[in-house]
Amino acid sequence: RAEPLILGIETSCDETGIGIVRGRTLLSNTIASSMDEHARYGGVVPEVAARAHLEALEPAIRAALAESGVALSDLDAVAVTSGPGLAGALMVGVGAAKSLAVSLDRPLYAVNHLVGHIAADILDADAPPLEYPTVALLVSGGHTSLLLVRDLTSDVELLGETMDDAAGEAFDKVARLLGLPYPGGPEIDRAAAAGDPGAIRFPRGLSRASDMADHRYDFSFSGLKTAVARWIEQREAAGEPVPVADVAAGFREAVVDVLVTKALAACRDHGVPRLLLGGGVIANRRLRDVALERAAAEGVTVRIPPLSLCTDNGAMIAALAAELVMSGRRPSTLRFGADSTLPV
Ligand code: KG4
Ligand code: ZN
Repeated sequence: RAEPLILGIETSCDETGIGIVRGRTLLSNTIASSMDEHARYGGVVPEVAARAHLEALEPAIRAALAESGVALSDLDAVAVTSGPGLAGALMVGVGAAKSLAVSLDRPLYAVNHLVGHIAADILDADAPPLEYPTVALLVSGGHTSLLLVRDLTSDVELLGETMDDAAGEAFDKVARLLGLPYPGGPEIDRAAAAGDPGAIRFPRGLSRASDMADHRYDFSFSGLKTAVARWIEQREAAGEPVPVADVAAGFREAVVDVLVTKALAACRDHGVPRLLLGGGVIANRRLRDVALERAAAEGVTVRIPPLSLCTDNGAMIAALAAELVMSGRRPSTLRFGADSTLPV
């Protein structure tokens, strides 16, 4: 089968991502973010994100075409994230993708955002081909999911996910408690560098023996956030200064520990010696280091695509659609809508 030329549209959260791929080759990856507009609210505001997509889509598509030297008429197919994500934000991308596919008379592929994150790995030209099965840990401001991937196009199983906040969201909320700006992940990372990760031990969510029976691969970060808030309150009530670096380091350690512990438990339980990491929180140096170190000790190989492919982007959506086309999958009908809770 010839390598299909595909344009992918991603609008599930605050990034307007347009990607163009030819088969497994990345031609362009254009991203416009409305992050700055959300900063004063301390988190992504759905209505603001949807409006921003509406404004950013057309210029982003033009930029991606210019960057790749591709003409719209060259495209073999159009791909779009149909879920999960923010309903209004998704709808903007789905509407645009449908119009494009209809006007160009090309097939349209509606794809799952989480599976798209896994497909990002395929575009990493420096890495050997992805092998199956693999466990995937996806951590961002919107999701924290553990998946078992037997085949990217036909067999992805959700093992577990967060029961409350996403890991990135927890970083953002705790940063706020510490008076650090949004997005909080990079800020906490920076502050933690000067702290002692063992100075304060914060709780690891869903990690007790009984939790590991019922929620073995699930995560919970709201209790951790509350524990940090209580700890700070008590300090302040006692009139003592808050050691920001130690709190940041202790919090980060708790998040990283539980993410890596559960991901490696999934590898062990399923006899899978491969772990793929994805999502914007993978930018966290400590998470990478702990994952690499503990995985190596268990004989598990870790794959981490370049960060530009780990954060939300359109190229991963195009890449997944290219795999679907090359595996002979029929395109979507135009009757699908945005599904904020679309399962994998
Ligand atoms: O994938 P992403 O760029 O976008 C969405 O979730 O939409 O992830 C952004 C999230 C934010 O919550 C941000 O605070 C977090 O990733 N993040 C980090 C780091 N860099 C970004 N969290 C921890 N450590 C970091 N270095
Ligand atoms: Zn994402």
